[in-house]
Amino acid sequence: MKRSPVKITVVGAGAVGSTLAMRIAEKGLADVVLLDIYRNIAAGKALDILDASPVIGHEQGITGTDDYSEIKGSRIVVITAGLPRKPGMTREELISKNAAIVRDVAEKVKANAPDAIVILVTNPLDTMTFLAHKVTGFKRERVFGMAGILDGSRFTQLAAAELKIPRSSIKALMLGSHGDTMVPVISQTRVSGKPIKDMLKPEALDRIIKRSRDRGAEIVGLLGTGSAYYSPSAAVLPMIEAILNDTKETLVVSACLDGEYGLKGLAIGVPCRIGSSGIEKIEEMPLAEEEKKAFLASAEAIKKTIELL
Ligand code: APR
Repeated sequence: MKRSPVKITVVGAGAVGSTLAMRIAEKGLADVVLLDIYRNIAAGKALDILDASPVIGHEQGITGTDDYSEIKGSRIVVITAGLPRKPGMTREELISKNAAIVRDVAEKVKANAPDAIVILVTNPLDTMTFLAHKVTGFKRERVFGMAGILDGSRFTQLAAAELKIPRSSIKALMLGSHGDTMVPVISQTRVSGKPIKDMLKPEALDRIIKRSRDRGAEIVGLLGTGSAYYSPSAAVLPMIEAILNDTKETLVVSACLDGEYGLKGLAIGVPCRIGSSGIEKIEEMPLAEEEKKAFLASAEAIKKTIELL
């Protein structure tokens, strides 16, 4: 595999960050700087990922550090630093600790990688995205969060299993908050081009929606310590690829709204056209009446969390 000379920084060398660093390198997307407050953890994981490169067959460089001068020139910075959930905890309950961490990281990213596009993964996702936008002062086109792709992937996986069909034949759409008020846009969800409502009974659909919404908590409960990381790290890749390859594809990301959908002063999951400069357009898609209501309720829930900052 040829080496891509692009540099991507992943802040937080924990479960999500280190898995993401590995995915980026193994796909040959970029060289990776893995940064953590614990330098040795970042350095050790970077060496371990690097040692697999001859077996996997890539030429990307990976370094682990706690020194922000090493993130200079990063095309993208992904922030995964922060505490994961504990059993019984909601994403929102992470707010005070993770806000302090994201504030600290965002200030250092601003100082050391002022031209980077910043992708948030730390929870509560929408609130942390809004906070990072404020702290960096970067244009909203360059600061957004990963959630909708993960929520959509969870729904797709569960619906495909229920219908016993390939996962690739479902196109799911999850908007709103990455939390208990996420909004499955069933009116726009297609199975091989047909509305999903024609394929699944309402009870089955409700069960799948509930399970996708609670999937993060289900995994937290099973793991005992830590939260999901294979699927969250995977869900960042389409965003990175859309930026690096300027694909201009529409992906659901948590974006800071400024009047779109009648909302301002928050970040929330909406479909956005993503290209080399980040968010190139926020798509205002038509929603069914009850979906619109659920979306506004989700926005209210995010605003309440933002007030806690
Ligand atoms: N600067 C840099 N790194 C930090 C900082 C900081 N100020 N504070 C904490 N970290 C690092 C920790 O040292 C740890 O290595 O962030 C890492 C977090 O890793 P994990 O505890 O394994 O958490 P993880 O499962 O990766 O989740 C990280 O992503 O999906 C979300 O809800 C999840 O908010 C959580 C985040």
